[in-house]
Formats: sequence, structure tokens, C-alpha cells
Amino acid sequence: MDFSSNESEESELYHAQIHLYKHLYSFISSAALKSAVELGIADAIHNHGKPMTLNELASSLKLHPSKVNILYRFLRLLTHNGFFVKTTVMKGEEEETAYSLTPPSKLLISGKQTCLSSMVKGTLQPMPLDMWHSSNKWFNEEKEQTLFESATGENFWNFLNKDSESDKLNMFQDAMAADSQIFKIALKDCKHVFEGVESLVDVGGGTGAVTKLINEAFPNIKCTVFDQPQVVGNLTGTQNLNFVGGDMFKSIPPADAVLLKWVLHDWDDEQSLKILKNSKEAISGKGKGGKVIIIDISIDEISDNRIITELQLDFDFMMMTLFNGKEREKKEWEKLIFNAGFSSYKITPICSFKSLIEVYP
Ligand SMILES: C[S@@+](CC[C@H](N)C(=O)[O-])C[C@H]1O[C@@H](n2cnc3c(N)ncnc32)[C@H](O)[C@@H]1O
Repeated sequence: MDFSSNESEESELYHAQIHLYKHLYSFISSAALKSAVELGIADAIHNHGKPMTLNELASSLKLHPSKVNILYRFLRLLTHNGFFVKTTVMKGEEEETAYSLTPPSKLLISGKQTCLSSMVKGTLQPMPLDMWHSSNKWFNEEKEQTLFESATGENFWNFLNKDSESDKLNMFQDAMAADSQIFKIALKDCKHVFEGVESLVDVGGGTGAVTKLINEAFPNIKCTVFDQPQVVGNLTGTQNLNFVGGDMFKSIPPADAVLLKWVLHDWDDEQSLKILKNSKEAISGKGKGGKVIIIDISIDEISDNRIITELQLDFDFMMMTLFNGKEREKKEWEKLIFNAGFSSYKITPICSFKSLIEVYP
């Protein structure tokens, strides 16, 4: 009897089940990462200065003895996922397993400029996760609104801005500022972009994390951080860096260069067109010498590797469901840029998954 076709069908079925379950349960890896940040595992190992055994870690985290085995299972998953590595240390005469940090978990050490813990905490908040329970309702309603609006009855920006001192707004701005620090490393490779620029306005610049990095690298550029009044109202500038509150849909302060980092992906094409047209107006004083610098994702499914594209598509979902925004492919960027009246552009990949797009009038 020939079993070969059945065997391959079965094998395909088993692989299909594994594939499906892998995606179904991937939220557990995200949740474990968030718990690791909240527990401060990376900080504990970092402060210890050498690989840490399970018991040393449990005692440093002041865990109840009943939780030691749970910690072991957390570490097993997180080690498998590349956040820790296991080594062997001698404890007296005995060999014991110890855990040390990897490059991804080194991004969770508090106080370091490149710490992304606030990004982890800010992203995995109850509301943006709960809204997914409303996706069926969202698909079946005629009203044009985001999943977040459909689930909560309010716009995500209003939700953040309800109270300018709110934890939510601070958490969001901290997450953005943390992400921006990685840009410092990219900045050294794109210095030419800022050469000849005497003034720059960072539109939607949040609390100014990126502008401060630009200001450090190019102290002669007169920088303005332009954001909503509730974001920048209480912030104080320095000699060459000032904060201005306003609405980018109305007008943008004039400068040689407009920077839009992680701004256009929050908005649909119509709104992005308005921001780009206002940016063009803002740089018009510099004639042909002005420029708009966009830092955002440019999806390239053909040339980029799978992991980068997967991350970019995840971001696209987040932008769509929270803001009605989108991550764009090169041809979408081109259309938007030319429709806004610019004559040319140049895309340079930065930080591995983002792009720097220089746009010229
Ligand atoms: C995704 S954040 C990006 C922050 C910053 N550029 C960065 O990369 O860290 C988008 C920013 O746009 C700001 N924003 C939203 N609506 C705005 C408006 N109408 N005018 C000016 N800024 C606005 C938000 O307050 C927020 O700081």
C-alpha cells in the first residue's frame, strides 16, 4: 500500500497547525517581555555585573519563594526568544546555570540613552489591546472611524490629550523620546542632510528628543520644536532651541528645513498632503534651498528581509487602528510628495527598518 501522499498531506497539516498556533500565541511573548520590563530583570542582571543564577535573580527582584519556578519558566521563554543567554557558573563545588543579557535586553537597561522600556510599557497598554475585541463590530459598521474610536467612542489623540498632565500622554511621549535616542547613532551617517541648514522646525516633535540630538550635533542650527500646545506648553528651550505650540494643519513656523519624524504615518493621505503642503509653505523663504526631511517607514516587501517587513506591517496595523494612519510603500510616498507640489525626493534607509526621505521644492 502506498502511504506517501497521505504522509505528505499529514505533514502539511501538522505544519499548518504549528504555523497557526505560533501566530495565535505570539501575544504571550509580548506579554512576557512586558512582565520582564516591569519586574526589572534586565536592570537586575546589569547591576549584578556578571551572569546571575535563578536564585540570585529571584532574591534581587525580592520575589516570593513560591514564584522562583515561575521566574525560571519566564526566563526559559525569554531566553528562547533571544532576550537572555544561559551560561554556567561555579557556586562552591557546584555548577549552576546563570543568565546574562543579550543586545535586545541591553535595550531595557534603565537610565541608558538607548533604553526602550518605556516603548514596551507604552505599547502594551490595556486600551490599545482591548480594542481588538471590537474588530468584528468595526468591520461591520458603516461609520468611517478607527478601531480605537469604534471600541472606545473617542479619538486616540483626544484620549491621550484629555489632561495635559495625564500618565497616558507622558507615557506616549516617553515612548517616542526613547525610540528617538536610537536616531543619534543614525545621525552620524546622515550629517550631510543637515549641512547648510541654518534653521529647522521639527513638526510634531513631541518633547524635543530628536531636535536635542540634532542641536547637539549641529549647534549652529536654530531649532524649533513645534507640537500641540498641551505637549510643549510647559517646556523651556535653550539658546538655539525653542518650543512652539500650534496646529500643523493650520500653519507651520518658517525655517530652512522641516523635519517630520514619525508624523505622516499617523495620518491618511488627505491629511498628510495638508501637512506636506504646509511644510512646503514653511520652507518657501529659502527658495530652492529649502527641504523637508521625513523619517518614517518605507515598505519594500521585495528587497527587505521578512523580519523587517513583518515589523513594518505590524506598525502599519497599529497606525491604521489607532490613528487611521498608514505605513507607505515607495510608490505611495512618491505620489504624496509630488501631489504636494515638490519636485524631487531621495530615500535613504536608516535604523534598519526606517527611511530618511529628503524632499525638495
Ligand atoms: C508619533 S508622535 C512623533 C513624535 C516625534 N516626532 C518622535 O519621533 O519622537 C506624533 C506627534 O505629533 C504631534 N501632533 C499631533 N497632532 C498635531 C498637530 N495638529 N499639530 C502639531 N503636532 C501634532 C503629537 O503630539 C506627537 O507628539
